Amino acid sequence: MNILTFPTNEMLDEAAAGLIASNLQENPFCVLGLATGSTPVGVYSKLAEWNQAGKFSFRNAQTVNLDEYLGLPQDHPQSYYSFMKTKLFRHIDLPGEMAYIPDGSTPDAQEECRRYDRILERNPVQLQLLGLGHNGHIGFNEPDRGLKAGTHIVKLDPQTRQANARFFGSADQVPTHAITMGMAGILKAGTILLVVRGQDKAEIVRRALTGPITTDCPASLLQTHPRLIVMLDQEAGRLLA
Ligand code: F6R
Repeated sequence: MNILTFPTNEMLDEAAAGLIASNLQENPFCVLGLATGSTPVGVYSKLAEWNQAGKFSFRNAQTVNLDEYLGLPQDHPQSYYSFMKTKLFRHIDLPGEMAYIPDGSTPDAQEECRRYDRILERNPVQLQLLGLGHNGHIGFNEPDRGLKAGTHIVKLDPQTRQANARFFGSADQVPTHAITMGMAGILKAGTILLVVRGQDKAEIVRRALTGPITTDCPASLLQTHPRLIVMLDQEAGRLLA
């Protein structure tokens, strides 16, 4: 595991975007695993800026997103589809049909999970970008007695709904369920880039990276990945030795 700590958000964004950009430059056909939430917003705006400046192209790339709320239509302002469109896709030259996100409005969510796993099988992720939930979730793999390998429907933890209430107005309005890539889907990526910011995440960063590997903290399974790169701001990294 390679842990890098940055003194400013700007430097963290540049380093994370730089790693994604160099993957695209080395392999223009690469498959990128993407995340939503507040963590990657600055990373996406750097990527958009550099893409528009012609430093690299997404024209031949593909993206697969980690998760989507169940029951939200794609055009709902808080769907992860809308998020990706607003924060990244609208600003880059990635062809629309090359961006995969689970369909949260599907009438058959189980079949949507199977369809998504087939997409992941056909398009192995080269670099997976991850954020970290306060409870140790990655994607929406919430702490539990057991974790699932494949894409599945998950009941969101009350803590997760509370954390995401800021986007919806109140925790009650946050959907109760989501579709998420499973742990095997995430851990299969060639390289994993975990980005975490803020002192409120310092304790979970410590548990995830230095604590026991346990399903109580799904991110702790990242310790088993042979190519894990962690990028933190100083606050998120303050409890690491
Ligand atoms: C989002 C996702 C989640 C977030 C996590 C952190 O696609 O998979 O695991 O990365 O909840 O969210 P933020 O970045 O909003 O703190």
